[in-house]
Amino acid sequence: MIVGNWKMNTTVESAVELASAVKRGVSEDIASDVVICPPYVSLVSVSEAVRGSRIAVGAQNMHSETNGAFTGEISAEMLAQICRFVILGHSERRTYLSESDEFVNAKVLAAKVAGITPILCVGESLADRQSGRAVDVVTSQLDANLNGIDRNANIAVAYEPVWAIGTGESASPDVAQEMMARLRLALADLLGDRATDIPLLYGGSVNLSNIASYMAEKDIDGALVGSASLDADTFCQLIALTSSSGR
Ligand code: PGA
Repeated sequence: MIVGNWKMNTTVESAVELASAVKRGVSEDIASDVVICPPYVSLVSVSEAVRGSRIAVGAQNMHSETNGAFTGEISAEMLAQICRFVILGHSERRTYLSESDEFVNAKVLAAKVAGITPILCVGESLADRQSGRAVDVVTSQLDANLNGIDRNANIAVAYEPVWAIGTGESASPDVAQEMMARLRLALADLLGDRATDIPLLYGGSVNLSNIASYMAEKDIDGALVGSASLDADTFCQLIALTSSSGR
């Protein structure tokens, strides 16, 4: 699985151009699930642009409530008519908008009710890693964010070390694999046998020169790509590299 997180980039017009270029560049017989996540305002146009292709569309966030007096917010019910995926708990939202684990948890549960698959992001800060608390921090985040989750819920989990996002300093494949193995165990406690089917994605400065080394790791099933997903040619090559790993 490969997910492109466009963040707060593109206008409606350039989003449609980018999505159309990715659609043209992706071969029909890829093995990976491909998801692109444009800003809210482009979700409808981008969904139309990729219709009939292997590319699915996701939102970058949503609110936990179904409707009501939440000015500026978008609910899972609204998204369900447009897209199949939603990124939840991205570290930029946790950091800049103070999103708590409880709020992320409520969103995960609301996504399930609406039939949208959350791509849940977890990851430790540099201080957490340096003090040897990375595994504890990330597994507690996962437990808190998936509290009360149904055993048959569809979900993908992205491990994104905060210090690796947008910095060009990616985690080494060994470090990423070590965390993924711990996440897989934690998921087994929550979901039983289904833990083996949950896509675990690595995110944080993924690019053309490092993606294959992540995909070669046992517990890494894909990538969540930020800046490198904003160039259609690069993203199509990343898709091909993810797909050729045979996962
Ligand atoms: P990056 O972002 O690939 O630009 O590091 C990843 C993400 O934030 O999802």
